[in-house]
Amino acid sequence: MNNRKISRVLKSQPTIEGAGVHLKRAFGNANVNLLDPFLLLDDFHSDNPDDYIAGFPWHPHRGIETVTYMLHGNVKHEDSLGNGGVIEPGDVQWMTAGSGIVHSEMPQQTNGLLRGLQLWVNLPSSHKMMDPRYREVKNEQIPEISLKNGIKIKIISGEVEGTRGPVRDIVVDIQYLDVTVPSGAECEYPISKGYTAFAYVLAGAGYFDEVKEKRIDEDHLVIFTDGDKIKITADDASMLVRFLLISGKPLREPVAWYGPIVMNTQEELQLAFEEYQKGTFIKHKVDGVHIDGGIK
Ligand code: FE2
Repeated sequence: MNNRKISRVLKSQPTIEGAGVHLKRAFGNANVNLLDPFLLLDDFHSDNPDDYIAGFPWHPHRGIETVTYMLHGNVKHEDSLGNGGVIEPGDVQWMTAGSGIVHSEMPQQTNGLLRGLQLWVNLPSSHKMMDPRYREVKNEQIPEISLKNGIKIKIISGEVEGTRGPVRDIVVDIQYLDVTVPSGAECEYPISKGYTAFAYVLAGAGYFDEVKEKRIDEDHLVIFTDGDKIKITADDASMLVRFLLISGKPLREPVAWYGPIVMNTQEELQLAFEEYQKGTFIKHKVDGVHIDGGIK
């Protein structure tokens, strides 16, 4: 077995998105191809409503899947397929934009803490124009396993020690885990060789390799080198380290990306925006849904 090392550490950066939401971006279109097949990870984390209340009104996506994981607070989702619902703490929403979807994501609270994460997973060229789909997974459907050394793992996608997460049938093979390691415990975890792997620290601090020279704090992203497994320990003073551990099989395809649309070529990208302007963007049947400003 070959231990993965730390390849790079990125600190999430303040960014304004949607209708004026202040969030932190761990990686995104400034880092194209850095984490193939992953495109972007946004961290919404504020107890100031001015930072989040504007939300993300109706906007399109094509060519990607988005995964939203709420930790605190509530977000209302509506889309051009006719889906609607409130994503509550611990819930996951998995949306395949495919050929095109228009949706809105709006906070359902006017005060208090809001924290959520949104990951964008690229679709391969063979599936960029697939039919869009939407899945919502409630907190209670997400299994949490406890290992003997006090480590807890919530399995959103993938399999750990025989327990499978509820998010399946994903185009790109990915594993999405929410891991908590208490101080004193060592988390050794296998990750398929050749897969892109990263950890994003949600709380506490820890060490993400064998040498333990660099303590990684909250809001930092660790990108791993290739190998068979990773080794993680919590920083003693922090009591624990909680992190998302995400890995996936790279696509190794060209990326043409502007805003919410990610294709393989500039021509496909231009076509998407032309279709959006002309009102022919949505390929699926729009069934009695009022999309305010989404489709012209
Ligand atoms: Fe969106």
